[in-house]
Amino acid sequence: MAYRPRLAAGARILPSEITPKEVYFNRRALMAGAAGVAAMTLLPDAAVAALETTPSPFSTDETPTPLEAVTAYNNFYEFGVGKDEPARYAEALTTDPWSVAVDGLVARPATFALEDIVPKVQEERIYRLRCVEGWSMVIPWVGFPLSDLLARVEPLGSARYVAFETLERPDEMRGQRGFFQALDWPYTEGLRLDEALHPLTILATGLYGEPLPNQNGAPLRLVVPWKYGFKSIKSIVRISLTEEQPPTSWSRQAPREYGFYANVNPDVSHPRWSQEKERRVGPGLIAAYQPTLMFNGYEEDVAHLYAGMDLKANY
Ligand code: MTE
Repeated sequence: MAYRPRLAAGARILPSEITPKEVYFNRRALMAGAAGVAAMTLLPDAAVAALETTPSPFSTDETPTPLEAVTAYNNFYEFGVGKDEPARYAEALTTDPWSVAVDGLVARPATFALEDIVPKVQEERIYRLRCVEGWSMVIPWVGFPLSDLLARVEPLGSARYVAFETLERPDEMRGQRGFFQALDWPYTEGLRLDEALHPLTILATGLYGEPLPNQNGAPLRLVVPWKYGFKSIKSIVRISLTEEQPPTSWSRQAPREYGFYANVNPDVSHPRWSQEKERRVGPGLIAAYQPTLMFNGYEEDVAHLYAGMDLKANY
């Protein structure tokens, strides 16, 4: 992003970038679209069990981006800065066992085994995802509200923010090794507590009805659909409640380009490109530009969180 904007608005999404052969599978199943996606086994590895889900009123009825694009065109700098590198290299990450520490300003800090925080039946949330680089997707996530997990640790009255941290494991994450490092590790993100408790904010464990592929942030990632994609931190190992606004990876890297809030906003340009339009990523197609919506189309649900705030200053 900061040092190599691979897909600023105006750039072209090459089909070759999004459909490498090794991730090209079952097109017909993909064409079936949203209806019943949760029930189908779409991933190449038939060993993964389908997840149990219920539909959500928060889902969009827009057509989901085909699985092959969702899993082949990624940002996950721990595995390299190329869009195809997460799909090529993230398999090296061991995701079982996995635990998540939830600590800081809470009455009951704990380190949870993943299986102890994921509900047996999760929700399918079909959300728009808008990357700050100018591309977008529609992804049928499987997950549960972050607020459910936070309730278990009982945030203290002094808690005002929630900080998130990704795993740091250079032996398995090739982007964390060697001379060239794209970011300071671990990748960190943060939300205001009211944003974290908002019902649209989820922890996702799957997509298209199956456990998350590693390149999409297995086994547990954040999804905040009204914010630019970089807020949706992957492969989370720590969640800490704080009084002060926590430092976040991209705003530390390039503070004038990426802010703490990062709300999708067509009226506030990135210093190097406009945010008025976006292109939907899809296999073999170069989609037309479409207008970017305020708060990524979730304005009715979230605008009240920012009442009276200067969104140009708080980008
Ligand atoms: N989380 C971590 N740990 N590392 C990353 O590089 N990239 C972010 C976000 N979460 C990133 C991350 C960015 S820039 C985007 S756009 C989304 O993940 C992409 O999610 P996707 O690859 O599942 O579409």
